[in-house]
Amino acid sequence: MVSTFAEYGKVSKQYSSLTLPLPPGPSESPAEQQEQYQSDPFGYLGICRERFGDAFTARHVQPTAPRVFISDPADVQAVFGEPANPMAASAKAAVGAYGERSVILLEGEEHIERRRLMLPAFHGEKLTFHELTIAEIANAEVESWPLEQPFALLPRMRALTLQVILRSIFGVSDPDVLSLIVEPIGRGAGLTELREVIDSWMLGEIDARRSDPQLAERGDVLSMLILARFDDGSEIDDAEIGDQLFTLLNASYETTATALAWTIDLLLHHGPALERLLAEIDEGESDDYLRCVVKESLRLRPVLMLTGRELAADLETETLSLPAGTIVSAAIGLINTRPDLYPEPFAFKPERFLENPPTTYGWLPYGGGTRRCLGAAFAELQMRVVLRTIFSLRTLVAESDEMEAPRMRGITLTPPNGVRVIATPR
Ligand code: HEM
Repeated sequence: MVSTFAEYGKVSKQYSSLTLPLPPGPSESPAEQQEQYQSDPFGYLGICRERFGDAFTARHVQPTAPRVFISDPADVQAVFGEPANPMAASAKAAVGAYGERSVILLEGEEHIERRRLMLPAFHGEKLTFHELTIAEIANAEVESWPLEQPFALLPRMRALTLQVILRSIFGVSDPDVLSLIVEPIGRGAGLTELREVIDSWMLGEIDARRSDPQLAERGDVLSMLILARFDDGSEIDDAEIGDQLFTLLNASYETTATALAWTIDLLLHHGPALERLLAEIDEGESDDYLRCVVKESLRLRPVLMLTGRELAADLETETLSLPAGTIVSAAIGLINTRPDLYPEPFAFKPERFLENPPTTYGWLPYGGGTRRCLGAAFAELQMRVVLRTIFSLRTLVAESDEMEAPRMRGITLTPPNGVRVIATPR
């Protein structure tokens, strides 16, 4: 998922064929809009909504052709609930390196078919299997943290979620193989180099697993993909398995790590919420409040602020008329902070979800419709296990009295200082 504006910039799709007027929006140059969005995403989007309403046309996302941002749940449902609306071509180009059979790049029946094969790996009893692995990795990670001196949590969370993906999804436990993959990621290698590393490991690995009599018991996602069969009985070929694994790797660890870092930043600056969570963890009887903490954090710090579609046909809603071909983005940060849905929209109040769970199109950290995040249940399980582990083993204090000010890093809402904390044993 994580991508850069430079990658988006390579796309040269033109929207000059659009003839119907688009909703009004800011008149600043694309460069100025980008600058404002990057440095203060909530401020910029909030001002756009104040000036122009729930739908506006802006150019702060590369390529800087006009794009309509929507934040009324009824409009979001009309766009994202319509499976015929494909992912925008510019977004596809940005993730093109995931491979041509990647679930993110496919459309229509082929896309639905892949989701059907992949979803069981992240649901039901498979989640219980992953839970044990995550807890083990989280314990080892927390035990390795420095005590009584400040450190940045975000890189630690990245290392942790990367281990989780490599073990639960790739099914790797051999330290040599783990470091083979972790090393290029650690030094920021490009996607092409990383894909080569993974392919060179995977080709021999798939053969070895196919002849493993215990394959069905392994439970990791690679093994499940090797065993999966399409409706006509055929198997997924090796090249496609590579595309799907690579997609899962790139879509999963940075997003989950960032969400974890934000959640801890929110908790450490909201004493009553942290106390209530600690009491629940110590009692060990329920995780109701923990679940709400995760949801409330993803509401206020959704990690991905936007996700888009290209209209396959003219769109007509009560408030919006848009021509086919328009690129429409759900402004996730605006939807999640609508005052009509969330009283005190910018306050961190996990208890708001105890009685009223989020609605499908009024809480959008995972997008929506047929492209909704495939790993949402897995991400939240991971967040719950990691938070429970951290707060059982350590007392954390924020280094700064101030919460981190959200900034955009590429398409990710990031804490610029990595959430610096001081840990002591509990
Ligand atoms: C807190 C962590 C995460 C967040 C906030 C997040 C968010 C998102 C969002 C916004 C989308 C686009 C949905 C749309 O356009 O409607 C998406 C897609 C996707 N995510 Fe996640 N994600 C997270 C974790 C994960 C994890 C852990 C995995 C895999 C294990 C994953 C796999 C995917 C895949 C495969 C897609 C593409 C789905 C498709 O096109 O059908 N994500 N995610």
